[in-house]
Amino acid sequence: MEIDNPFLVSGYAGPEYFCDRKEETARLVSAAKGKVNTLLISRRRMGKSGLIEHLFANKEIAKKYYTFYIDIYSTLDLNDFVWTFGNVVCKSLMSKGSKIVESFMRTVKSIQFRMGYDEQGLPSTSFGLGDIRDKSVSLDEIFNYIETADRPCIVAFDEFQQIAKYPEKNLEALLRTYIQKSKNAVYIFSGSQRHIIQNMFASPSRPFYNSTVTLSLESINKDKYIDFVVKKFKEAGKSISKDIVSRVYDMYEGHTWYIQFMFHEMYYMAQPECSEEMIDKALDKILKENESYYSFTLYNIPDKQQNLLRAIAAEGMADRTQSAEFVKKYNLQSASSVQSATQRLMERDIISCEKGVYFISDRFFATWLKRKFKF
Ligand SMILES: Nc1ncnc2c1ncn2[C@@H]1O[C@H](COP(=O)(O)OP(=O)(O)OP(=O)(O)O)[C@@H](O)[C@H]1O
Ligand SMILES: [Mg+2]
Repeated sequence: MEIDNPFLVSGYAGPEYFCDRKEETARLVSAAKGKVNTLLISRRRMGKSGLIEHLFANKEIAKKYYTFYIDIYSTLDLNDFVWTFGNVVCKSLMSKGSKIVESFMRTVKSIQFRMGYDEQGLPSTSFGLGDIRDKSVSLDEIFNYIETADRPCIVAFDEFQQIAKYPEKNLEALLRTYIQKSKNAVYIFSGSQRHIIQNMFASPSRPFYNSTVTLSLESINKDKYIDFVVKKFKEAGKSISKDIVSRVYDMYEGHTWYIQFMFHEMYYMAQPECSEEMIDKALDKILKENESYYSFTLYNIPDKQQNLLRAIAAEGMADRTQSAEFVKKYNLQSASSVQSATQRLMERDIISCEKGVYFISDRFFATWLKRKFKF
């Protein structure tokens, strides 16, 4: 992959562009060895997906296991799930050789596979949604394959909260059964809509209750991140002071994607030196580029929710939003109207909640709101 900026703002491009996370990676490696399933949670854009890819890129892991990374964010039902799951397994095995993928196809009899060539002209195997004759049978066969594979497997379901939104209500229990029985695989469940995913794993009435250890991903260690940024500038013949890195880190409390985004811009601006004014310049540029998206988002939020959003933006971290005091301070009608507006904004992931404290999920959007309303 051609990289012209070492500060990635999407995806994973190898250990060179990945800062630290040694401890978290080690925990996942030992979870795999010890056959312990893990629930990986964090705020959005903290680095969960990157960490999973980083784990799978680890030499020791890649040598010993078959690894499957299944992002189910855009799946809407069981059929989509089976299709996504099956295709990921199929594609990953393809890279291990034709014998291995053939054994997968022999096990998953209920699917009509298509042979073809991928964009690089290499042989590939896949199937379409319409090729799944019976989704429950196919699901069973995919799990069977995993159990009989000639290597242990690590299966990561990213954006796992999505299954709570499927029309099929029994999937959680069904998956739990397969996973509980599994002897040849270890599972990682990852998700960001904390309230949904925590309900799945922390309520005694739900199938996944108590079935995993939790790895809660926090900001990257500040000193390690400073070293990373300084080094990446240096490697390109540019320079940045530790103090500037430290200030940007603090602006976003080390929240990975936001600081990466800032340094992505500042890296381009530094010719070759990064000056202090570039912090504001980078932020202005980011906000400007997103202006139409933020305006669109804001004006598509109904009035009552908008009032609550403004109140939360003004507070930054909003505590006791349903108290009489808060309702009065921001002219929010009533506690019950705050409650329903909160629910809507949470569903759309516009606000998040941690330990009863509400905040705007997207930190750049929060800054934009603050500037717009001159808080
Ligand atoms: N350790 C790291 N070092 C450098 N960049 C990182 C690191 N971890 C993540 N990133 C970058 O931060 C951004 C967010 O990471 P990622 O997509 O993994 O977060 P996420 O928690 O999965 O987010 P979401 O909840 O939105 O799915 C990406 O651009 C990624 O490239
Ligand atoms: Mg992710």
